[in-house]
Amino acid sequence: MKAILLAGGKGTRLRPLTIHTPKPIVPIFERPFLHYQLDLLKQVPEIDEVILSLNYQPRRIEEIFGDGSDAGLSIRYVVEPAPLGTAGAVRYAGESLHESVVVFNGDVLTEVDLAAVIRLHRERKAKATIVLTPVENPSAYGLVETDAAGNILRFLEKPKADEITCDTINAGIYVLEPDTFERIPRETAWSIERSFFPSLIERNETFMAYVYRGYWIDIGTPEKYVQVHHDIMDGRYHTPPFNGAAATSWVSPKARVDDSAVLEAPCFIDEGAVVKAGAKIGPYAVIGRQCQIEEHAVVDRSIVWANTRVGQDAVVRQAILGRQCHIGRSASVGDGAVLGDKSVVTDHSRL
Ligand code: GDD
Ligand code: MG
Repeated sequence: MKAILLAGGKGTRLRPLTIHTPKPIVPIFERPFLHYQLDLLKQVPEIDEVILSLNYQPRRIEEIFGDGSDAGLSIRYVVEPAPLGTAGAVRYAGESLHESVVVFNGDVLTEVDLAAVIRLHRERKAKATIVLTPVENPSAYGLVETDAAGNILRFLEKPKADEITCDTINAGIYVLEPDTFERIPRETAWSIERSFFPSLIERNETFMAYVYRGYWIDIGTPEKYVQVHHDIMDGRYHTPPFNGAAATSWVSPKARVDDSAVLEAPCFIDEGAVVKAGAKIGPYAVIGRQCQIEEHAVVDRSIVWANTRVGQDAVVRQAILGRQCHIGRSASVGDGAVLGDKSVVTDHSRL
């Protein structure tokens, strides 16, 4: 069985972070995001190949995953000549498929039992089965109504406030039958959410819901990108290095933290990072590889990508800093600031 990962979007809501780092490989604790999805796919031994459907900066992604042997899965790359939308991408990547295929949005993190989703799909002989999850506000997602037996009655992408009739949304994880792909036009952009799913309902085809109430997040906005780090540091999502433990300060054995620096859990300091005298890290601070945190600087509730330097007495609070940034002495950066790679904040500036 094959899995298609839709990983071709531009990640506009995560700009400027995604200018040089496409969304599928933004780091979560310095590990490219797709690794976490591959970990989930690996739990289904039947999945013998992952097709990465790419468009935006495909080379950067290929460089990291190669043929997949390091990640423990066979990976093939399909690069669209132009963005074909979510359905167009599935058709383009799934051209040679003749058996059920698992499709994943490239920005969701979850602990759903994929094997159980595939089982339901087969038992019901469905044309499509999609995972639904409840959220507080469905307006940023695809709203999905079902009947008591789990048949999908309505699919409404990005509903307006007065169109919200239930709390279950499309979690971006599907099992599809390739014989339905013929209805997707070949060379125009087509949306799986706005056109393909409604077409199944119109034709009265078996279109099933698998409702999942466990951990699920779409990391596609700065708020959610920060949230996923908090969830891992608070033990809501189990993965290394925290592995479900809350209130832990994780410091790489290859980091250098001065004895007089203060670490407030939870926090994460990766290899090669240097934290100097009197600096304060945490709570909820993530310090990337080779970062330098100078004397008496403060970093809390922030994600700092690799090779960034935070100057003496500077304060970084509730911010995301890209790679190779320089925050000057006594500068303060905060309140949801998101700085792209190589940003420079001069001494004493306030942002
Ligand atoms: N290859 C390819 N080509 N991939 C694409 C394209 C394209 O033209 N457009 C989007 N993608 C990929 C993105 O990279 C992402 O992984 C996935 O498709 C979904 O796109 P998003 O832009 O993240 O969509 P969304 O988050 O607004 O909404 C989608 O996800 C929600 C769940 O997170 C929809 O599927 C909603 O229905 C769903 O609720
Ligand atoms: Mg998304």
